[in-house]
Amino acid sequence: MATRRDTTGAAARSAYAGVVAGTGRLSRAWEEQARNWIAWARRPGFDSWWHLRERFLALVPPPGAATLDLGCGEGRISRELRARGHRVHGVDASPTLVSAARDADHGGAYAVAEGTALPFADGVFDVVVSHNVLMDVDDLTGTVAEAARVLRPGGRSASPSLTRWRT
Ligand SMILES: C[S@@+](CC[C@H](N)C(=O)[O-])C[C@H]1O[C@@H](n2cnc3c(N)ncnc32)[C@H](O)[C@@H]1O
Repeated sequence: MATRRDTTGAAARSAYAGVVAGTGRLSRAWEEQARNWIAWARRPGFDSWWHLRERFLALVPPPGAATLDLGCGEGRISRELRARGHRVHGVDASPTLVSAARDADHGGAYAVAEGTALPFADGVFDVVVSHNVLMDVDDLTGTVAEAARVLRPGGRSASPSLTRWRT
């Protein structure tokens, strides 16, 4: 991971503890490393997104009424999908990352949420995208089940793990 001093401090950790208390080890680690991730994700050419995004986006189903970006991070996938006509709801367990996503996209819809407890009714999304997320969650089975719950019957998911480390 890119090395950059973590400037989030106690305020972010406190906010995190209040919002997603009880979540697991990996979600906590993502919040702790949120500033590093923002620097990484926004550095052109730095990770697989920059090399593989056209191939990934070609796999994403066309826009419907609503698309969920599960594990949206600082929001780069949501922003790309919105530019392509998707009505995106981005969710992530990290308050710092969700705040960064909002700051970078004032018209977007972003929320702090745990992947195993999504704040949406059953079957409301036509598309669920989780780009490089499923290898990073504490509860893979619970997260996939929850994604399936919010996906409409016949809806489609695009959930790759595209890293140079072949996770
Ligand atoms: C490798 S990053 C990918 C972020 C974004 N999808 C991208 O490609 O730029 C993994 C993301 O999964 C999120 N995440 C990890 N565990 C989660 C959970 N249990 N619920 C929601 N998000 C989670 C992290 O906070 C992080 O933003």
